[in-house]
Amino acid sequence: MQIINNISAVRSKITALKKKNKSIGFVPTMGALHEGHLSLLRKAKKECDIVVLSIYVNPAQFGPREDFKAYPRDKKKDCLLAKKEKVDIIFYPSDKMMYPRRYLTYINVNEITSILCGKSRPTHFRGVTTIVGKLLNIAGPDVIYLGQKDAQQCIVIQKMIDDLNFPVKVRICPTVREKDGLALSSRNKYLSAKQRKEAVVLYQSLLLAKQHIRRGTKNIATIKNMMRKKIKKTSGKIDYIECVDAKTLEPIKTIKGKILIACAVKFGPARLIDNIIV
Ligand code: PAJ
Repeated sequence: MQIINNISAVRSKITALKKKNKSIGFVPTMGALHEGHLSLLRKAKKECDIVVLSIYVNPAQFGPREDFKAYPRDKKKDCLLAKKEKVDIIFYPSDKMMYPRRYLTYINVNEITSILCGKSRPTHFRGVTTIVGKLLNIAGPDVIYLGQKDAQQCIVIQKMIDDLNFPVKVRICPTVREKDGLALSSRNKYLSAKQRKEAVVLYQSLLLAKQHIRRGTKNIATIKNMMRKKIKKTSGKIDYIECVDAKTLEPIKTIKGKILIACAVKFGPARLIDNIIV
C-alpha cells in the first residue's frame, strides 16, 4: 500500500496502472474510517483491480459554524484499517495542495442542493461537488463508490457526473448500521451515552414510516407527523423530515413509486442524518 500526498505523483502512478489495463475503483472519504467506509473499500476490491482511497477533511463543505476543527482525524489508525482491506493507494493531500492561494473555482449543482440537507447547510454540496470533481480529475477512476447513508450526496454527485460528462460509473452501497440500527457515522463520536441511546430514533422513525406506508397510508403529512412525534420524545432537535422522489429528490404529494424518506436530527453537537427508500 502506498500513501501519496502529491497530486502529480498519484496521477502518474494511476496512469501507469491504467496503461497496464488495470481497472481503478475510487473511495473518497474524510477519514475516521469505520465499517461503513470499509464496506465501500471491500466492494471496490471485489469489483476493481486497484483500490484508491482518498482521505481529506474538505474545509469547503463545512459551514462557518460547523465542526471542521472538531472533525475526528486519525491518520495512523486509518492507514492500518486501509492496509487490512488491501487498499492499493491512499491519496492523502494537504489543504495547500487542494486549495492553493487564490483558489477560485467551484462546481455547483443547482436546485437539488438547496433542499433537505442543503437547506440548513447552504454551501455544503458546493464544497462536496468541488472536491469530488477535483478528486475525479486527479484519480481518473473507472468507478466511484458512495454510501446510501448520504442519499442526497449520491444523487448530487451522480448529477454532476452526468452533467459534466465525467467518464466514471457510480456504485452506491447500502448503509451499514450498528446492531440497534443507528447508521455508522464519524459524527457518532460526538454523542454522550444518553444521546447515543436516543439516536437510534432516526432509524426507528424511518421504520415506523415504512411500516405505515406498507399498510396503506398514502398521506405524506400523516407519515411525517408520526415520525416527528416519535423523535420529539427524545432530546433530539429535528432539522428536517422529508419524503421525496428517490431518483430526482423532487417533492411528492402522495406515496407513489420509489420514495426516499430522509431525516436530520441534532443531538447536542452531532447533526445526524439517515434515510430509507420505500
Ligand atoms: P465521509 O463522511 O467520510 O464518507 C465517505 C463515504 O462513506 C461516503 O460515500 C459516505 O456515504 C460513506 N458512508 C458513511 N457512512 C456510511 C455508512 N454507515 N454506511 C455506508 N456508507 C457510509 O461523504 C463524505 O465523507 C464526503 O462528503 C466526501 C464524499 C468524501 C467528499 O468530501
